[in-house]
Parts: sequence; C-alpha cells; structure tokens
Amino acid sequence: MDQLVEIRNLVKEFHGRSLVARRHSAFRAVDRVSFDIEKNTIFGLVGESGCGKTTVSRAILHLDPPTSGEVRFAGKALEGLSGKALRGYRRRMQIVFQDPNSALNPKQRIGASLEEGLINLGVQKKERLRRVEEMLELVGISPSHRTRYPHEFSGGQKQRIVVARALTMQPEFLVLDEPVSNLDVSIQAQIINLLLDLKDRLSLTYLFISHDLNLVAYLSDRIAVMYKGRIVELGSTEQIMDRPVHPYTLKLFSASPTLHGTIQPSEKMQENEPTVGIEAGCPYAGQCDRKDSSCVEEEPELRDIGEGHLVACIYSKERTPA
Ligand SMILES: Nc1ncnc2c1ncn2[C@@H]1O[C@H](COP(=O)(O)OP(=O)(O)OP(=O)(O)O)[C@@H](O)[C@H]1O
Ligand SMILES: [Mg+2]
Repeated sequence: MDQLVEIRNLVKEFHGRSLVARRHSAFRAVDRVSFDIEKNTIFGLVGESGCGKTTVSRAILHLDPPTSGEVRFAGKALEGLSGKALRGYRRRMQIVFQDPNSALNPKQRIGASLEEGLINLGVQKKERLRRVEEMLELVGISPSHRTRYPHEFSGGQKQRIVVARALTMQPEFLVLDEPVSNLDVSIQAQIINLLLDLKDRLSLTYLFISHDLNLVAYLSDRIAVMYKGRIVELGSTEQIMDRPVHPYTLKLFSASPTLHGTIQPSEKMQENEPTVGIEAGCPYAGQCDRKDSSCVEEEPELRDIGEGHLVACIYSKERTPA
C-alpha cells in the first residue's frame, strides 16, 4: 500500500491558565493520534464539536506544528523541515475550510484571490491566468467571472471558488474541513459530487472532516472516530458501518439522521482542563451508558479487534459480533 500521509502519536497541547489548577497548564486537544492515508483514497475524520478534528488537520499541514509526534508526507518527515523545504511540502497539501465567506477577501476580485498563491510561487503572469481560468472551469465557474467579487456569488459558488484556489497550487492532498456544513442542504450534494469528481480527475487524496458520520461514511474509504482528542475507533468504512463497536460510534450513528442532516454537538467539550492530573480511565466513561467500575479505573488502549479494525474500549472483544 502506498501511504501518502502517515501520522504517528500526534499530540497537540495548548497552553493557558487553568482556573482549576490555578497555574499555567497544558490542555491536550489532540492525544496520541495515529493513522495513515493511502494515496487516492478518502479518509474520514468524525467527531463532535471540539473533539480536535481541526487541530489534527492544522498539525498535519504544520500550519500549527504538533507538540510531539510525527507527520510523514510522501515518505518524508515534516518535523525539522523549515523555510523553503517546508513550504514545498505545504504547497502539496491544501485545506478547504467550512466557511467560504471568511476564506475569500470581500474586497478582492476572485481572479486575484486565485492568483495570490501562484505569485508567491513565482509563476509568470500568463501561466497564472491560464491556471486560474482552468481551475475555475474545472469547478464549474465561468472563467470570465474572474473579475467579479465574492458577494456576486452564492454560497455554493464561493465554496467552488475556494476549492479552485486550493487547486491552483496543484496539490496532491486536500484537507476538507466540514466543507459543506455552512451550505444550504440543496447545494451540499452538488459540492460533494464536485469533490468526488475532482478527486478522480486529478488523482487527489482527501482527509474529509465532519461531525456527520453518515456523510463521512458515504464518502470515505476509511474512518477514524474521535472523542476528546483521541481516536476511539478506526477502520474501513465497511467495518465502521457494518460492525461499529465503540459505544460512542454507535451514538454518533443515532445522532446522524440523514445524509445531509446536521446534528447538534451533543456534549460540548469541557472547558480546558489541565493535562496533568487528568482523570484515569476511559474518556468516554462519563457519557457511556454501558460503563462499569473498570471503565473509570483503566484507560482503554486502541487495539486491533480483527483485520485492522481498532477500538479503544475495554469491552470491545465482547462487543464484537461473532
Ligand atoms: N489556538 C487554540 N488555543 C487554545 N485552545 C484551542 C485552540 N484551538 C483549538 N483549541 C481547543 O482545542 C479543542 C479542539 O478544537 P478543534 O477546533 O480542533 O475541534 P473540532 O473538532 O475541529 O471542532 P468543530 O467541529 O467545532 O470544528 C477545543 O477544546 C478548542 O477549544
Ligand atoms: Mg473544526
């Protein structure tokens, strides 16, 4: 298997003053996260608001480098790279965020917005225009509209323009961080289909982030379920859809009514607590309807329950259907 992205034991801590500890303390937003993304596949990362999905993606792209752990892109460890070398890798990885309105400068014509990255790369004017027009065409926006401003487009069109801008950099890997959550339900399917089409045409690899497990399952080849900074279940889409094991995954299924439904985050992450002195046991124990006394004593390891299906629950063996 040809892995494009390999993440090992990724940890991201934020520092702040904790009211509880009354001193500076670290809050662990991402805790020992590991997964691989195979070339030309879609990897889905799912979990409720605040569980650390965006933090993982920013750490992968080294927009905000991890506290510890390793990120390898196309076999190369990004840690320790700096300046030009890091920029070279960053160009190959682009990110599309949830809100196209804040992604585009309202005072800038969209053509200029698409050209910006290319100017930084030192691409000549003629080639820049060619690429901008080609990418707009590819996402279904008329190239002649490149002189227009963002407000002249609908939400769906703006998200297409944001995708086109990412593509001008000729990336191999795209992080799609809730790319349709801010769009009208009627537009979501169009953007999803566009993304699937682009993936095939340009041989792209995606990390698709969402809080909607059904949407993630519709798109992804493999899925990781995150809870409070940790992966609690990881496997092929088939394994997660047909044989979900972790009680949290089961709950996400019930909370995700339709493909395009939006769920409310059920339990917002608690305010930043210090990492030091973190409570023992399973992070999900407090919410779990199947917990017993061992769950608050023992921290469950993420372990393989068969054929690479990983689950962090001390009862995962018993819960696996025969
Ligand atoms: N720069 C930062 N400084 C301090 N804490 C942060 C920072 N960025 C994120 N956090 C915290 O880290 C945790 C994870 O945040 P993150 O944005 O990664 O979650 P998410 O899963 O992407 O949520 P959402 O679905 O709402 O986008 C949250 O508790 C958040 O408050
Ligand atoms: Mg996020």
